[in-house]
Amino acid sequence: MAQTTTQTVEQTLSIIKPDAVGQNMIGNIIEYFEREGLSVVATKMLHLTAAQGKEFYAVHKERPFFQELVDFITSGPVLIMVLEGENAIARNREIMGATDPQKAAPGTIRADFATSIDRNAVHGSDNKENAKAEISYFFKPNEIFSRA
Ligand code: CMP
Repeated sequence: MAQTTTQTVEQTLSIIKPDAVGQNMIGNIIEYFEREGLSVVATKMLHLTAAQGKEFYAVHKERPFFQELVDFITSGPVLIMVLEGENAIARNREIMGATDPQKAAPGTIRADFATSIDRNAVHGSDNKENAKAEISYFFKPNEIFSRA
């Protein structure tokens, strides 16, 4: 019997981090998402404050690298986007590659643009619940232009 796979249109949060913004790689990175069928349906550039960095990454507050994480994400402007598409949360994670660029598959964003686990070019929501929370942290509903 033919197998059917469930395809759901989802939205996920993506951040192009200060390392990649500083290297003028915004356009190059967005191309990875668009050529894989994800659409940018909201975007803004911000230079996060320390309070915003801590709040955004609150799930990591007990981790030993928390302070470095906040210092880095607040070290320069970031491009924040909502990406939309079929299974966008998992697709975005595949397109980004593993958190540690040394372990990221060839052709992924982190393999191509990241230099270390801290300076890893992009952030992406890791599950549905976090995607919803992260999107609403940065965007009001009327700032998101769904094309689904
Ligand atoms: P990101 O997807 O933005 O989510 C949390 C970030 O913590 C992660 O990417 C990494 O840049 C950073 N980080 C630093 N050290 C570690 C580590 N040992 N394990 C996981 N994430 C780490």
